[in-house]
Amino acid sequence: MSSHSDRQNPGDAPGTSSAETSPVPEQPSRRRFLQSAAAAATVGAVPYAHAQTQPAAESAKPPAPVPPVTHPPVPARAVTLKINGRDYTLQLEPRVTLLDALREYAGLMGTKKGCDRGQCGACTVIAGGRRINACLTLAVMHDGEAITTVEGLAQGDALSPLQRAFISHDAFQCGYCTPGQLCSATALLGEFAAGTASTVTADVRRRPPQLTDDEIRERMSGNLCRCGAYPNIVAAVRAVHAGTTGDA
Ligand code: FES
Ligand code: FES
Repeated sequence: MSSHSDRQNPGDAPGTSSAETSPVPEQPSRRRFLQSAAAAATVGAVPYAHAQTQPAAESAKPPAPVPPVTHPPVPARAVTLKINGRDYTLQLEPRVTLLDALREYAGLMGTKKGCDRGQCGACTVIAGGRRINACLTLAVMHDGEAITTVEGLAQGDALSPLQRAFISHDAFQCGYCTPGQLCSATALLGEFAAGTASTVTADVRRRPPQLTDDEIRERMSGNLCRCGAYPNIVAAVRAVHAGTTGDA
């Protein structure tokens, strides 16, 4: 029985098949399909190639210069800060923070700059009797106000009870957060004595009965310590609240 490939084409020598004398010709319909597909692809690629060259030509142009933003200079003005009992009259632009005024203008480097955005508490000082983050407030807002920094906690050579307790309880390692911790803890004891509640006070309508460790931790939660001296800081505050400092 003869197969399909064994059939003779017209013009083949008798006794030979097209499979033996020449490759099998492509089907005309398949060739046409491939030709038309290639033509369509070429037509489609032309605008794309054009589009590729256009931005390159445009990017060769230098970008238009951006006009600089200018603001009129802000004149400095005299600001008087009562820091640790002494008047400092400083010439400050209105945008100078209290932290920069203390460190850069008054030369009191005890207050530390950690995050400079109100997250670490390293810059805590006591202004007008309240502890605040000095990096989050402008110096001009405290004109005439009493400011206490870590340099003002001791009385001459006599350290404050909290300072002594921090030493005896080993409540610091690198010490970078310590000025802020000391100012914060000093204000904390005053706030508790005044009956101020915290978010862990069970009944905020009454004076918190006890300065528990939870109360201390919550009230000191704005002061971060990267060395992790928290247990010893709590112990130092607890000791001073109890009337001791833990030193000999
Ligand atoms: S430096 Fe002010 S809160 Fe961190
Ligand atoms: S003692 Fe180092 S960050 Fe607190």
